[in-house]
Amino acid sequence: MTRITNKLTYDNKIILAPMVRVGTLPMRLLALDYGADIVYSEELIDWKFLKSVRRENDVLGTIDYLDKSDGSVVFRTCKREKDKVVIQLGTCDPERALKVAKMIEQDVAGIDINMGCPKEFSLKGGMGAALLKQPEKAKSILNALTQNVNVPITCKIRVFEDVEETLTLVKELVSTGIAAIAIHGRTKAERPQHQNRNETIKKIAENIAIPIIANGGSREIEKYQDIVKFKHQCGCSSVMIARAAEGNCSIFRPQGLLDLENVIIDYLKYAVDYDNSPSNTKYCIQNMLKELQETPRGKRFLECQTLEQICAIWDMGDYCRKKQLKFHSQGILSRREVTP
Ligand code: FNR
Repeated sequence: MTRITNKLTYDNKIILAPMVRVGTLPMRLLALDYGADIVYSEELIDWKFLKSVRRENDVLGTIDYLDKSDGSVVFRTCKREKDKVVIQLGTCDPERALKVAKMIEQDVAGIDINMGCPKEFSLKGGMGAALLKQPEKAKSILNALTQNVNVPITCKIRVFEDVEETLTLVKELVSTGIAAIAIHGRTKAERPQHQNRNETIKKIAENIAIPIIANGGSREIEKYQDIVKFKHQCGCSSVMIARAAEGNCSIFRPQGLLDLENVIIDYLKYAVDYDNSPSNTKYCIQNMLKELQETPRGKRFLECQTLEQICAIWDMGDYCRKKQLKFHSQGILSRREVTP
């Protein structure tokens, strides 16, 4: 097995869960500011990485993986999160997974394999929750990574209805040498409104030596203390939070929630500083505003198309314009290609 130095550990951690479109760089940095210990990227599909190119972006101070065909950002990261960011891959193939892992291991603290996504797209491709019923395939992916990659490997699963069946699967996965396993306490068929199976997570945590990361508690999480309660209910030392953080990322603050207005301003600052796309920025703020999108201000927000227009709603138009001018004057051409 490959030797890992200064590796990330998964005990006693509060973690930003992987969330498609939500877990981009601004949200991850915000979660770290507010107190998250580890931040997961959104799920990124292996072949998307394989058709990307790694570049150091000197203007933004980021490492970018850019789609070779259209230059769009597949994954953007920066030094600040280097020791805390776990990238989540969607994959059904050990060779492809390993190729991607070797491409990115220098830039991330850990690599996670998505084994819980119940969406049609994932299942049809043999990814996500499809792997729960193919433990040999799942193990071959994890083995390929744990044996050849220099950062810790984890996976994120859903539970089966049967506790023993879940435990058997977890034991199989753990035998590959993974560093931790995140468990969403719902079955593949269950939706967010279903009760999370905290007892199943607890039973697994009692029987497994590596850190179990409890997930699925957001329905009952309204404040920081609820995170602690969820952790105790699941008998785990680590928890992973998705929807509660998507709605108000300051849920990670032990001192208590911040007003949503302040959270949006903090978020926008990072969106501007890291040149986040207007569409992604808008999506994330929509998920924070929820029903507030129906207010006159919310409706004005929905009409915005540029980052500056979005920022102007929160009196940050000037901040955005000045930053964008600065980026422009430094020139996008200073992006330096590091690996072909
Ligand atoms: C998710 N979830 C998810 N899970 C995953 O493994 N990879 C992903 O990319 C995503 N994407 C995603 C997007 C959005 C918008 C949501 C709300 C959720 C599932 C998520 O990580 C988590 O397992 C569930 O939301 C349950 O945890 P909470 O929300 O109760 O904390």
